[in-house]
Amino acid sequence: MTTSPIRVGIHDLAFATAHNVLDLRELADHFEIDVDKFYIGIGQTRMSVAAEDEDIVTMGAAAAQQILDRHGSAGIRTVLFATESGVDQSKSAGVFAHGLLRLSAHCRVVELKQACYSATAGLQFALGLVARDASERVLVIASDIARYALDSSGEATQGAAAVAFLVTADPQLLEIEAPTGLFTDDIHDFWRPNYRSTAVVEGKYSLAAYLQSLAGAWDEYRTRGGAAFDEIHRFCYHQPFTKMAVKAHKRLAAIVESPLDADQRRAQIEDSMIYNREVGNSYTASIYLGLLSLLENSEEDLSGKRIGFFSYGSGSVSEFFAGVVQPGYRQQLRVERDRQVLADRSPIDYETYRALHEHIEAVRGGDFETQAQTAAPFRFLGVRDDIRRYEVRQSQG
Ligand code: CAA
Repeated sequence: MTTSPIRVGIHDLAFATAHNVLDLRELADHFEIDVDKFYIGIGQTRMSVAAEDEDIVTMGAAAAQQILDRHGSAGIRTVLFATESGVDQSKSAGVFAHGLLRLSAHCRVVELKQACYSATAGLQFALGLVARDASERVLVIASDIARYALDSSGEATQGAAAVAFLVTADPQLLEIEAPTGLFTDDIHDFWRPNYRSTAVVEGKYSLAAYLQSLAGAWDEYRTRGGAAFDEIHRFCYHQPFTKMAVKAHKRLAAIVESPLDADQRRAQIEDSMIYNREVGNSYTASIYLGLLSLLENSEEDLSGKRIGFFSYGSGSVSEFFAGVVQPGYRQQLRVERDRQVLADRSPIDYETYRALHEHIEAVRGGDFETQAQTAAPFRFLGVRDDIRRYEVRQSQG
């Protein structure tokens, strides 16, 4: 007797971002260059900038709280926290978030790291757990603050955001299909040594490495029974900056010798880039913020449509996979809330941005208290006796 496989995937997806926003015009004025290099050349208009009293834990918990408010926490026995801007060398950021979210003690919680890729590792691990026991619900949190050195060319590609998603059987948002294509290569295109608070990057090389990795992952995806290019309706790429997705999709179309012109290719990715263009790079969260952007901004009903994903983490590990949007998915979205969150960020000028950037360096390695700047549900209070301290602002049931 054969049993039909359990359908597994993403049941709900929520996001949070930082309190502040910097228009890239501020940065262009500082560098005395044409702002279109940023607005058009790299496809970014603004970027979220973390306040003193927020970090990957507060953003991650704020994203996850929305999921718990809607679905409760029963059945969540695993929390996977993906980040490349971890706050402790030993303790998982997920354990801090688990405490703020008041989840059950009967829970396994770990942090996953491999540059911008690890949220996809979290998704795949979660799918495996749910496939083994359909009563399990796995909470995946991806949260990052992208930081490059001041006055470096990477500066325009910073940003900050978190996503949280619930992986379940019979998902209402996106069923994830089984075939995946993987590609790992031990390279140095982007990395962050333990002693640094900002990334080291070989900018141009990182673009080439991303595209080479895409070719490798796509090749294996097809070999392992993945859908053909023309069976995929929309594409969602890791977006260090949105122009990277445009470059990637052009490369993939060339690999498969697609007859689509630039406008037709653009239509396949445009909606996935709307939020990222406003938020900047959110590393591990970026591709799933792209998915949220696609689902919330597509006027077309995407029910039953296949979306292709390319997840890339420098260093490097990448994966190509696909999922099918579920009927009724729109009921799971928080469109008004999400647009409002982006609109409500506090605009800052270049001097304020620079002071916040320098603050991180100034407080490294000692106790300090943060100033109250955010209105977020969770606050980072600072470090006392080498312990990070947090505050829950909202009342939770
Ligand atoms: N109007 C319109 N376009 C303009 C312009 C203007 N006035 N001036 C320049 N441009 C265009 C350029 O032609 C160029 O476009 P193309 O790439 O299509 O040719 C684009 O603007 C960028 O210009 P430059 O290449 O001169 O920019 P740069 O050298 O200052 O750096 C960067 C760009 C390499 C992306 C840099 O910001 C960087 O290093 N960022 C961090 C690394 C990164 O994001 N890598 C991505 C792949 S790795 C990854 O994905 C993992 C991750 O998250 C980091």
